[in-house]
Amino acid sequence: MAAQPEALRIGVVHGPNLNLLGRREPEVYGRGTLAQVDAALVRLGAELGVAVECFQANGEGALVDHVHSAAERVDAFIVNAGAYTHTSIALRDALIGVARPFVEVHVSNVYAREPFRHHSYLADRAVGVVSGFGLNSYLLALRAVAEHLHDDARGVSA
Ligand code: DQA
Repeated sequence: MAAQPEALRIGVVHGPNLNLLGRREPEVYGRGTLAQVDAALVRLGAELGVAVECFQANGEGALVDHVHSAAERVDAFIVNAGAYTHTSIALRDALIGVARPFVEVHVSNVYAREPFRHHSYLADRAVGVVSGFGLNSYLLALRAVAEHLHDDARGVSA
């Protein structure tokens, strides 16, 4: 049998407090849990033909270390950096440093919230940003990044 081409692999990175999804401000972040989000991502990945691995940490250093090590096996990242979106030059530098494309995700629409959430240290280097679709933001981001990678492979990216 002919060898199958390597499947694309996407690393999902959840930042601080996202382990509390389902319990944390449900009027803002909904009632689904992080485990449900991760399971839905893996299921959609299987439909789209991409492998998905998920990671959550509350500490900035743990997230930076994870980006460094996961970059050796993933083709792209989906990143919800939580509050570090608005504060972390270290996470920005890590994502740029490993030279993997990434999509920035937010469950809430950060632009409809407090002004301090309007600035992102990641957005200008992201392929794109998905914000405000509830937990579906993650699934939309996975579809977008999978298409982006497949388009890249076919050489049809803009
Ligand atoms: C968030 C938005 C951030 O401003 C906030 O600090 C979070 C979650 C979101 O998914 O909507 O922790 O990234």
